[in-house]
Amino acid sequence: MGSKIIYEIKNLTHSYGKGPQTLDIDYLKICEGSVTGLVGPNGSGKSTLLRILAFLEPYTGGSLSFEECSDTSADVVDIRKKVTYLLQNSYLLKRSVFENIAYGLRLRNETEDLTERVHDSLERVGLSPKKFAQRPWYRLSGGEVQRVALAARLALHPKVLILDEPTANVDESSALLVKNAAVSAWKEWGTTVIVATHDLAWLTEVSTDIISLYRGRIVGHGTENLVHGPWIRENGSVVRELSDGQKIHALSSGREDHSAVVINPSDISVHRIPSGPVTEMNILKGTVTSMTLERATGCALISVQVGDIVLKSRMTVDKMKEDMISPASEVILTFSPENVRWI
Ligand SMILES: Nc1ncnc2c1ncn2[C@@H]1O[C@H](COP(=O)(O)OP(=O)(O)OP(=O)(O)O)[C@@H](O)[C@H]1O
Ligand SMILES: [Mg+2]
Repeated sequence: MGSKIIYEIKNLTHSYGKGPQTLDIDYLKICEGSVTGLVGPNGSGKSTLLRILAFLEPYTGGSLSFEECSDTSADVVDIRKKVTYLLQNSYLLKRSVFENIAYGLRLRNETEDLTERVHDSLERVGLSPKKFAQRPWYRLSGGEVQRVALAARLALHPKVLILDEPTANVDESSALLVKNAAVSAWKEWGTTVIVATHDLAWLTEVSTDIISLYRGRIVGHGTENLVHGPWIRENGSVVRELSDGQKIHALSSGREDHSAVVINPSDISVHRIPSGPVTEMNILKGTVTSMTLERATGCALISVQVGDIVLKSRMTVDKMKEDMISPASEVILTFSPENVRWI
């Protein structure tokens, strides 16, 4: 697994028919063997981007290259063999679990060791082949359907696995099995995984890059804090009042359409008890809700509930231990309005 680029996007735009622009991406590269997370509010363009990356949706402008080949229309059939895509609500073919998983392999004439591959895929998603292989499609729970659908993709040993909110409609134990199965493909076969999910804690742990989308644009790499309005003008600055009355101060952008901001977690400091007087303009009280080890940086990412929003702060593990920050700690967040960026 190196840093060979598998996808490269330049000035890509997309709209549905004559509708408004849904995507406008200046540049994006995805490396082979990486785990890329895609986050963003509803309607920000995650599914559209994933369908474009799966070559299921044409784009309107710009370019997309796959394995250094930019004229992807020429070998879309070939590419589809390498790229598999799993939806939030998968459906199965009206046949047994075994035949559902075997289907893709039969299509590709990869029927050597068929039973073994089907059974291995079932085990990867936590379904016992003995119990499930001969089950008909209609005797499965929603979570099992999703896992069989994933097993059918995994059986192909895909080069790229694209997952669109794969755990949105399944319970926690199925979700964990789906996530572990995706990670196992990445570990064993070097599968490039691209996943849209709201499960930020998991993404932080496993991903090498997180792309944050907002209104069709990439607004940050990594787990940027995104804070929506309403923003109001107050004594020369622009503020967002939180549900508990605390305020986030930003510098005026000079425009009237103040809508949303991003704040890099590295720009937010967390203090258990401030060691001296705090001079930052933004001083917010909150409670630590979760802490994760961020794979991409090796740092701790601390999520803090402040009023109605959650802000994440990045700090070294040593500093975190030194300051005795742990879940449920009451903490104080400080950051400068200059680090609150309009998007
Ligand atoms: N088939 C379609 N025809 C027209 N507009 C669409 C279509 N699919 C999505 N859109 C619009 O494109 C925009 C981006 O939608 P998309 O589904 O990519 O967002 P998303 O980030 O996946 O959202 P969600 O979190 O709700 O899944 C939205 O404004 C949506 O209304
Ligand atoms: Mg979507």
